Amino acid sequence: MHGMERVGVIGSGQMGGGIAQVAGVSGFDTVVFDVNASALDKCKGLHQKLLARAVEKGRMSQDDADAARKRIAYTDELGALRDSDIVIEAVVERADVKKDLFKDLSSVLSETAVFASNTSSISITDLATSVGDRADRFIGMHFFNPVPVMKLVEVINGLATSRETTDRVLSLSEAMGKTAVPANDRAGFVSNRILMPMINEAFYTWMEGVAEPEHIDEIMKLGMAHPMGPLRLADFIGLDTCVHIMDVMAEGLNNPRYRACPLLKQLVTAGRLGDKTKHGVFKY
Ligand SMILES: NC(=O)c1ccc[n+]([C@@H]2O[C@H](COP(=O)([O-])OP(=O)(O)OC[C@H]3O[C@@H](n4cnc5c(N)ncnc54)[C@H](O)[C@@H]3O)[C@@H](O)[C@H]2O)c1
Repeated sequence: MHGMERVGVIGSGQMGGGIAQVAGVSGFDTVVFDVNASALDKCKGLHQKLLARAVEKGRMSQDDADAARKRIAYTDELGALRDSDIVIEAVVERADVKKDLFKDLSSVLSETAVFASNTSSISITDLATSVGDRADRFIGMHFFNPVPVMKLVEVINGLATSRETTDRVLSLSEAMGKTAVPANDRAGFVSNRILMPMINEAFYTWMEGVAEPEHIDEIMKLGMAHPMGPLRLADFIGLDTCVHIMDVMAEGLNNPRYRACPLLKQLVTAGRLGDKTKHGVFKY
């Protein structure tokens, strides 16, 4: 058993907002902390809208939606997380920002609380150094976007993560309605270690003129039963994020085979970042 009732979430953006929503709907008392008041407001508004829509579509009763709404609190004070049994961090993908937060958090949380990060590429072992002798209670919980829809949580063990912490977090993830799968802390974990080189190879295939981008995607969709082609997926993730994750893997796995494709880097230089700039591989 996970023995957790109160879930803290740091960051109310795309991922943190989704994690908080899932925790609240799954029956956990949830507190979301963000330094940005307008991000918190936006997150709260989105939760109201999504819960109302779930009731409208008959996916949830009005009582359950009201109860979920009451279970989620929004705050701009870190101290409000003090009673959390676990805090899941989902702020910007910067090791220094995350480490500062976890250091502050370690003087706020109880001795038994678990520290979790939703980082997609930063070393869990490295982040865990920020909580001193409590690194055995530090772990990665890698959720996927959009969190309420995607079933997977990749649970990442740092070098010092205890077996008990892993078991508690696997069990908590299941209680949040997810399928939790453990992995160890190597750059890219399992998901990006396999996905990103495939995306990178799609850019090489395009760069070398093997096929047009839309044909590359069509072949991978129809031939491999992928729901989205690799180039369309790269636009969705953000081409800058793809380059960043390849860089982290090239450095962390100490192997040049993970270097980002020159064409992928060139599109980023040109400001073509994908869906978020309305132009990446494709135009939107
Ligand atoms: N977007 C994805 O597809 C995805 C998938 C898996 C993991 N992740 C990881 O999740 C994390 C968050 O990504 P996102 O897409 O939700 O980002 P986002 O920009 O949507 O949200 C980040 C939020 O963190 C807040 N924040 C920044 N610094 C803070 C601080 N010091 N204290 C409290 N709040 C702070 C910001 O105000 C913002 O609301 C990143 O580590 C990212 O790598 C993202």
